[in-house]
Amino acid sequence: MRAGVGPALPSEVGTGQAVRVLFREWDARTAPDAEVEALLAMLNAALAADQPGDPLWRNDRFRECITELVPGQRRQAWTAHDGDGRLCGHVNMLLMGDTGVVELLVHPADRRRGLGRRLLGRAVRWAHAQGYTSVGVEVPGDTPGVAFYGGLGFRQAYAEVRSVLDLGSVDWLALGEMARGIGSGYRLAYHRGGPPAELLASYTLAKAEMRNAGGDGDLELRPGSYDPQRLTESLACLERRGMSPHVIVAVHERSDEVAGLTEVVVPAQRPSRADQYDTVVVPDHRGYGIDRAMKARMLFELRAAAPRVREVQTWNDPQDRHLININADMGFRTDRPWLEYEAEVPALVARLAR
Ligand SMILES: CC(C)(COP(=O)(O)OP(=O)(O)OC[C@H]1O[C@@H](n2cnc3c(N)ncnc32)[C@H](O)[C@@H]1OP(=O)(O)O)[C@@H](O)C(=O)NCCC(=O)NCCS
Repeated sequence: MRAGVGPALPSEVGTGQAVRVLFREWDARTAPDAEVEALLAMLNAALAADQPGDPLWRNDRFRECITELVPGQRRQAWTAHDGDGRLCGHVNMLLMGDTGVVELLVHPADRRRGLGRRLLGRAVRWAHAQGYTSVGVEVPGDTPGVAFYGGLGFRQAYAEVRSVLDLGSVDWLALGEMARGIGSGYRLAYHRGGPPAELLASYTLAKAEMRNAGGDGDLELRPGSYDPQRLTESLACLERRGMSPHVIVAVHERSDEVAGLTEVVVPAQRPSRADQYDTVVVPDHRGYGIDRAMKARMLFELRAAAPRVREVQTWNDPQDRHLININADMGFRTDRPWLEYEAEVPALVARLAR
């Protein structure tokens, strides 16, 4: 039984093959609690159907998670309801620059009736009218989204592979060796919340290496930034969303510069599974065991600082054999592809009108 969301004020009424659908603009900042809970329930139904190994989301700061933004971003959303007012679909667009990042969700019981296409059409037509020129979307591999976006002419812009580590399977003795196996002249430091102020400039320079090496998707779907002010804003936004950042920084002792970093975020909405985002070693400092040591040390710190974490998931470029091998040594198991798709808005509007 899905959660009800109360009567919808229709901005468009249409008929799918089997359901009468009402669409309306939706603002998560002002929506009643019951509607936010209905969205969470639909998200969990989709997760159970599409990615059954993933833990479900909890209603712990879920509203903040979908409303808090960094400066310069905005969000526009719509919901779809059946004749009884029950939520059967949702689309939102996170807008920045001239791009919109789409999140589209249709309840598993309401799929293959054209609802996804119609919700996307609604968001894309709006983006077109507002002057946005491109849209992107992040799609977990081996889920219906791959055929859906591929069929609509989206092109694959970036592909990663997701791996998951079960902390229960970790050999902590071996991990301790990895954490200590760093070349002399470097020290590792753990920071809850983000790097300390004195390392901020050097930290963002190190992060920029990732972009220079082409090792980051273009959509900026993950919170992060390449200049100190943006990074500070991004970290503050994460905290407001209920997502706690943890970082390990490798400092080159002679220069006091950041030689490497690794970042993990623990979401209040899913505290048993942490997300490991960027792991970077600055080129001049490669070959000293820094990446392996940082990742190993992070797991020890997480175990102490976030004891509810049972698993850590991470995403890698499938060509990055070095990092993938380190992950495998730690016990990460490859899970599924993770894809980013892009499309030009005018072409998409035309295709969706057919
Ligand atoms: C992707 C998604 C939005 C599609 O919604 P939908 O309402 O089923 O899509 P539509 O009915 O508009 O499908 C349009 C076309 O896409 C393609 N398509 C959609 N789902 C497909 C599937 N499972 N297999 C193959 N093709 C598919 C088909 O070509 C379909 O046309 P057809 O039904 O006439 O053959 C929906 O499956 C979904 O919500 N997935 C989860 C997305 C997500 O964000 N997950 C993250 C949390 S788990």
